[in-house]
Amino acid sequence: MSTVESCGWTAAEAGVLVRAMVRAPSVHNTQPWRLELAPGELTVRERAEPVLPRHDPHGRDRAASCGAAVANLELAARTLGRSCVVAFLPEDEPPDVVARIAVGEPASPSAGELRRYGAIARRASHRAPFEGLAVPAAVVRRIVAAGGAPGVEARPVGEIAVVARLLHFAADAFRQDGGYQRELSLWTIRDEPAHRHGVGIPAGRIPAGAVPWAGLVRRATEVPEPAELERRLAGETLLLFVTADDSRLDHVRAGYAMERAWLAAVDLGLAAAVLTQPLHLAPVRSALCEDLGLTGYPQALLRIGYAAEADPLTPRRAVEEVLHRGP
Ligand SMILES: Cc1cc2nc3c(=O)[nH]c(=O)nc-3n(C[C@H](O)[C@H](O)[C@H](O)COP(=O)(O)O)c2cc1C
Repeated sequence: MSTVESCGWTAAEAGVLVRAMVRAPSVHNTQPWRLELAPGELTVRERAEPVLPRHDPHGRDRAASCGAAVANLELAARTLGRSCVVAFLPEDEPPDVVARIAVGEPASPSAGELRRYGAIARRASHRAPFEGLAVPAAVVRRIVAAGGAPGVEARPVGEIAVVARLLHFAADAFRQDGGYQRELSLWTIRDEPAHRHGVGIPAGRIPAGAVPWAGLVRRATEVPEPAELERRLAGETLLLFVTADDSRLDHVRAGYAMERAWLAAVDLGLAAAVLTQPLHLAPVRSALCEDLGLTGYPQALLRIGYAAEADPLTPRRAVEEVLHRGP
């Protein structure tokens, strides 16, 4: 086995870690992260570029995306048989350090960890409608448990009429926002190989019939009336990720918890898609808090259900763009 002397990880181990990390979901598939390897330590940093001034002006989704990447990285390190202790936004570190994972003594992964690691390669955003089969309550409970992390609650949403009304409101607002629409066009890439740069969302991954509950509403999107949206959402399982506070740490933790829940769902034979776009509007966030009686801050909605077919994987950045071998 070849050893990457300076960073304390073999080339094969480095490959396992970085390939798991880049498969994490990220806002507009920007993959706003870098990975640094050092002996006994993995560091996830947030990239300065690209930014999404219209979609994500405060960087909430960038931070959540990095949190999701940490969840994948931790599972990969556990699968390599190492113990992990994750510290988010460690003190006295530069602000771009999102997490430091102290990787210690050999420790066998559990069967559940191995299965969720396997789910990383199968997870993809399912923006189309689901099959309409109800997800059994016991399965939802397992996903909710997987999505619990310090400071984050994964809350099943039964108030479908409220969500339908707010998604309709948000869809209408984004459809009329010219700056938002221009930015979304820039990040929607054509499906031909010449346009695959490893970032951005291939146009074919935003099926016309999937919006607006999948977010990413275009100017031409026909927004169904709230009653119709409600009817469609009734066939889905919705989880809302709620944090105790609304700081960058909360955004990172929400992304981490969301990805853990998503991988648990995939492991249980389900598909899912996340949407944060509507929650970027202050009136939507405050209405959710009020109408659902939340005591914390809503960060992301995860739609879960059964899909007829596996969703194709979206391209990613090259490993060399992401990986930095220390010291
Ligand atoms: C924090 C965050 C916010 C996201 N918001 C949305 C959204 O509002 N609507 C949507 O359709 N997808 C959303 N996504 C999904 C990304 O577009 C998706 O993960 C990315 O394009 C990569 O595709 P994949 O999930 O199929 O691997 C979000 C992902 C993350 C991590």
